[in-house]
Amino acid sequence: MSKVPVIIDCDPGHDDAIALLLALAEDKMDVLGISNVAGNSYLENTLANTLKILELSGYEEIPVVGGLEEPITQELDVAVNIHGESGMDGPVLPNPVTEPVDMNVMDFFADLVQDQEDGSVVMIATGPLTNVAMFVKTYPDLLCKLDKISIMGGGIEEGNWSATAEFNIWNDPEAAQIVFESGVPIDIYPLDATHKAHIKESEIELFRHKGPISQFVAELLEFFAIGYVHERGMAGCPMHDPCAVLGVLHPELFDYAEAYAQMDLDGIQTRGTIIFDFRQEEIRSGDLNVTVAHGANREKLRDVIVECCEKLDAQLLEE
Ligand code: RIB
Ligand code: CA
Repeated sequence: MSKVPVIIDCDPGHDDAIALLLALAEDKMDVLGISNVAGNSYLENTLANTLKILELSGYEEIPVVGGLEEPITQELDVAVNIHGESGMDGPVLPNPVTEPVDMNVMDFFADLVQDQEDGSVVMIATGPLTNVAMFVKTYPDLLCKLDKISIMGGGIEEGNWSATAEFNIWNDPEAAQIVFESGVPIDIYPLDATHKAHIKESEIELFRHKGPISQFVAELLEFFAIGYVHERGMAGCPMHDPCAVLGVLHPELFDYAEAYAQMDLDGIQTRGTIIFDFRQEEIRSGDLNVTVAHGANREKLRDVIVECCEKLDAQLLEE
């Protein structure tokens, strides 16, 4: 099987960091480039965090670009309460020495996809959809290059940034609507799946003292557990963004349903909520446009993440 070309748009971010490591470790994934979006922290932080992760794992040759600094219509709301001031508090990594690519994110995406086979590239979005939406608007003729967009976002029965809205989508609902209307096939991993895909605090020892990548992930999880387990009483550290990566090559780890997704852009209490319509065609409010993950195999996802870290550690030892 030839490699799947992927582009990752992210806002590292503890779970984004693990998602990036999974993509780098996947033999069947060819990471064409990585773009950063403001979300968990300001763009300068998410960009720096990506460069740190690539340098730690030995993949600094992958092109990286900084994206747009603000959502399309509203002010950015960063998640300091979960990710800390740097966006990736906990582990201490050296300041990056790699330079990002000096171009705007829409042109960066266009450059990466234009020579790829039609319908071959998977775009993986693990932060607010600002960059992806602006690519959709700027280069509609290049959307044919995309196989799908794999998104971490939304919630069927739960929200985390409001009672009904999830952080990524809440931060730029207009961008999400543009993406849902793009006509590009979409797989979406909402909180209903990503909360099931958690790593328990007692399982963090599976990562400790096994190598630099595993230890980095252990420290990410230790910090993540403060917000999710200690302060919110959740069962473990939700692997939100890793789901959007793992689902590309390992859909067997998830349960899916088809739906029509549209954004609530005007609700006073509900703006930023994705409205998923799972009803049959005759009464559904629109044509099917998303494949939604609603279940996840927690233990297998955990084991894949452990194996990915061990693989990256082994690669570093060989160098
Ligand atoms: O709501 C979870 C999402 O928001 C994840 O992508 C996490 O990294 C944050 O960006
Ligand atoms: Ca994220």
